[in-house]
Amino acid sequence: MSSSEAVEAIAQRHGVVTEVGHMLAEYTTIGVGGPAAAVLKPDSIETMGRLLADLKRAGYRPRILGGGANLIAGPGPFTDPVILTRGIKHGPLFEGNRVRAGCGVVVKRLVHKCAERGLSGLEFAEGIPGTVGGTVYMNAGSFGGQMSDTVREVVWFDQEGKLHRQAVVASDFSYRRSPFQSGAVIVETVFELTPAEPAVITARVKEIAARRWKSQPPGERSAGCVFKNPAGDSAGRLIDGCGLKGLSVGGASVSLAHGNFIVNRGDATPQDVLALIDLIKRKVHEKSGVSLEEEVILWM
Ligand code: EPU
Repeated sequence: MSSSEAVEAIAQRHGVVTEVGHMLAEYTTIGVGGPAAAVLKPDSIETMGRLLADLKRAGYRPRILGGGANLIAGPGPFTDPVILTRGIKHGPLFEGNRVRAGCGVVVKRLVHKCAERGLSGLEFAEGIPGTVGGTVYMNAGSFGGQMSDTVREVVWFDQEGKLHRQAVVASDFSYRRSPFQSGAVIVETVFELTPAEPAVITARVKEIAARRWKSQPPGERSAGCVFKNPAGDSAGRLIDGCGLKGLSVGGASVSLAHGNFIVNRGDATPQDVLALIDLIKRKVHEKSGVSLEEEVILWM
């Protein structure tokens, strides 16, 4: 039995849908990424737990993929199984001022449901193209807010498949960092929000959307901001200031709308994107002395 057949057999035992031989490009917002031996799609917390435990027992080290919105996947091939979390999408479930959501819930849906319900605190996330699990894992943020402002409980699996229910506070997180970045698989999050008029929240959501579309590339395939902002500066402003907007390698280009976005003009390969990242780092360092550090996750 080949390795991918063995993974398929484990997945089948738990009723988990498996896609064999697909390109990771299909699962990332920027649309690049080489072939993956097996992509597994559990649809509940219980199934995820059993799958992780069995894969671990069989000696596999699965990679975990949420909305693929902050990921640059290399050319591969990716031989370890990839587990997609977006099938675990229960909720949002409201409990007073708290809201519980599965890791696969799309952030936009959460933002809108909370606005309808009259619960404020997640408006900043309008337009972030990820899932709850991925954005909490990355502590995604924009327009003065970040996920950690409202996250109060995270349910996650360790690599052995053991479930943890962890209370958290904002100070457990920092800029694009969460306590879950050493291999935790987030499956559910509870947010604590503040009551407000639905109309006021909705107006704020619309204002955030307008600001985002004015300053970031609308309708183009990207992985969000590529680099972290250096202390006291903006990576986008720095890249722009070095005259790099429009700089291209193959089908990958620095966005004309915002210097910190790389866009896929349609035919970009993982190699194009990775080479462009290196080129930007080299040019920015030459011209400004600043060493940029990736914010996106790179899978090699
Ligand atoms: N700017 C330029 N040229 C550019 C880009 C920006 O001159 O090409 C200037 C802007 O005009 C502004 C300043 O730089 O004066 C800051 O730009 P912006 O408001 O767009 O914020 P940013 O620091 O570039 C951060 C986050 C974004 C988030 C925005 C809005 C990081 C790395 N980036 O960008 O997050 O959406 O603020 O709050 O933290 C992401 O994490 O994927 C992301 C896109």
